[in-house]
Amino acid sequence: MHLTKEEEKIFNGEKGEVLERMFRLLVRLGDIYGADKMLPVGSVQVAGVSFKSIGMPGLEFLEDYAKKGAKVKVLTFLNPAGMDLESWKEIGFPSDFAEKQIRVMDAFREMGIVVTSTCTPYLAGNLPRFGEHIAWSESSAVSFSNSVIGARTNREGGPSALAAALCGLTPNHGLHIDENRKPNIVVNVDVELQHNADFGALGSFVGKIVKDKIPYFTGIKNANTDQLKSLGAAMAASGAVALYHVENLTPEARFMDIKGLEKIKVCEKELKETYAQLNTGENPDIVILGCPHASLREISELAEKIKGKKLKKPLWICTSRIMKECANRMGYTEIIENAGGKIVADTCMVVAPIESMGYKTTGVNSGKAANYLPGFCKQNVVFNNIDELIKVIK
Ligand code: F3S
Repeated sequence: MHLTKEEEKIFNGEKGEVLERMFRLLVRLGDIYGADKMLPVGSVQVAGVSFKSIGMPGLEFLEDYAKKGAKVKVLTFLNPAGMDLESWKEIGFPSDFAEKQIRVMDAFREMGIVVTSTCTPYLAGNLPRFGEHIAWSESSAVSFSNSVIGARTNREGGPSALAAALCGLTPNHGLHIDENRKPNIVVNVDVELQHNADFGALGSFVGKIVKDKIPYFTGIKNANTDQLKSLGAAMAASGAVALYHVENLTPEARFMDIKGLEKIKVCEKELKETYAQLNTGENPDIVILGCPHASLREISELAEKIKGKKLKKPLWICTSRIMKECANRMGYTEIIENAGGKIVADTCMVVAPIESMGYKTTGVNSGKAANYLPGFCKQNVVFNNIDELIKVIK
């Protein structure tokens, strides 16, 4: 790989031990994937934030780097943490867990990372432009930024994203290269998609089939950004899709040639079967929405649906801190809390320790959450659209 003079200095340790180690990690990855050079990145999103995922070894690693003076070079956001960083006590997060999670956040802050924890950084102040090279980690954020915004990122691991943030660079390979962004399978959708959950079910079905290919969707007549984030998140969870195109909807679709590509069709039957497969339980102990983190539109729609009701079981909607602040100002938080629900910021149902908070069956409208909850949180899942989920807990 070609290195500039400045990069060679980092490689040789002239800019300190931390940068040398991080840069060498990027060079190793670049060599493995055949990168020709490093690219400057516009922003980074780092995963591996919840204490539940990184444990003591991760915490000690971060504290060590912070102590050694590691500082990020570009705008860097974090993936969800293991708890709401402000209301953790009242929501019922264990205090020994909270103490460790706060130390994790302190170490990130020390490095200059914006300690707002969200998988929808593009809704919370970290919005890349079309064609911009970035290094993001969380799979749904990667999918959204590549597909809906047209920015360019590979699916980074926690360490490689942190290295990109500290060096301001990422190796040029994979989805950073135009040629690698072409679709290799066409998915014809021959069913009307109504709810966000339908997009999650579609994504869950397609991800399993296409794995890490780049699908090109036809037949999706319309979709808002919330529905596209549900679709991408589910495909990234059931498969490893980091980029997709939707005819007439996503920005690169019009440049793509789909002649001669393999084709699959999704009809009502496949969608119904996916709903059945994702439902592994009944009678949820709790309903958790906001995977990926809810937009203000999703929060306001929920508030409208439960206004004046009294829910019999807990309901959370997970979101970023900034969306929660907007929801507070708009009065949505009050409406949701009066009905017995909670807007939970900074965390989500998968990275929070919900299994140790007494929950065994969780209701979700997210294809991604339905895929992950059984394995990550030992949950039975009730997967449905919001109206049906509210019916079972009211
Ligand atoms: Fe985000 Fe957690 Fe879902 S990180 S995409 S809310 S599993």
